[in-house]
Amino acid sequence: MKINGVAHRTIWPNPDKPTEICIIDQRVLPHRISIEKLITKEQATRAIKEMYVRGAGLIGATAGFGMYLATLNAPEDAADFSQYMATYAATLNNSRPTARNLKWAIDRLLTAIDTVHTTQEKQKIAFATACEIADEDADYCRRIGEHGLQLIKEISKRKQGEPVNILTHCNAGWLAFVDYGSATAPIYAARDAGIPIHVWVDETRPWNQGARLTAWELQQENIANTLICDNTGGHLMQHGMVDMVIVGSDRTTHTGDVANKIGTYLKAVAAKDNNIPFYVALPSSTIDWELDKGHDIPIEQRDEKEITSVMGLDDKGNITTVRLSAPGTKAANYGFDVTPARLVTALITERGVVAANKEEIHRLFPEGKTLT
Ligand code: MRU
Repeated sequence: MKINGVAHRTIWPNPDKPTEICIIDQRVLPHRISIEKLITKEQATRAIKEMYVRGAGLIGATAGFGMYLATLNAPEDAADFSQYMATYAATLNNSRPTARNLKWAIDRLLTAIDTVHTTQEKQKIAFATACEIADEDADYCRRIGEHGLQLIKEISKRKQGEPVNILTHCNAGWLAFVDYGSATAPIYAARDAGIPIHVWVDETRPWNQGARLTAWELQQENIANTLICDNTGGHLMQHGMVDMVIVGSDRTTHTGDVANKIGTYLKAVAAKDNNIPFYVALPSSTIDWELDKGHDIPIEQRDEKEITSVMGLDDKGNITTVRLSAPGTKAANYGFDVTPARLVTALITERGVVAANKEEIHRLFPEGKTLT
């Protein structure tokens, strides 16, 4: 999608030097557009852990390139190579525990690397697989857009030309993926189809993905949007100001329970109470085929400083962090919550719109059975 009118992806190999992987540092958006280069496997892990990159799809794509970077300095001996890659895979996998795409991408790289023998072949296949993951992520999001568009079209017909009001939480936009986004792909597709759209953007404390990223990316694409505090959604729903909710997911069980940014569950409860459809847009790489219960999804807990302080731009144009609460204030920073399948109207995937239950999910993805 576009930054200042120029199309970008969130991650790409340097065309002049493919051993360097370029990312946009999301910690300083929207105030600075800073392109960073990942050259070592440690830098890839750090980029994920410290949220230079974030969002399920982009975490997966970065993990793919991290595994590729690891192969560049791996030992020649086959047994040592395997041990070295397994050790790095375990470290990488611990960097953000909730996003399923992380393990999915790491496993895909390990499987690909295993099919060839020499170190050079392993490096080559690791690069090709990482690029494939990135391309596939973008393509799946584009297809999510096509399927989600049909849902928006139906609502738009009923509204007879009035804008369709969509509420979203966190950033499940192109910045959370390689391109298009999951929750935003149907919005971009609707814009392209000439459907008037307006998006309510939850600010999404404590990291403010909505305020910092979603509002900015929609603005860059000329989509009408309004930033709201996290607690505003319920009020808007009660007053008929929300037609549908679309959120993303960091991990969805094969039974339809959805882990997403903290606060998503409360939006789902409010949507149910107000008869508003609540959709979750996700590529199949986010589905956990092993877990039966959302309750068992590991929930990341982050530094309490993300709650007790806030980052922004000061009057002099410097990016600054200021304290919000008194020194010594204790805070609990749960990154995600789980919305039970019963509150989800449907999942929007790259293969189509599907009810959030085991039977329907497995019908759409029959290959998932082999993974449960
Ligand atoms: O902590 P983040 O920014 O990595 O979390 C991202 C989210 O939770 C988003 O809500 C998104 O919907 C899922 S990413 C596709």
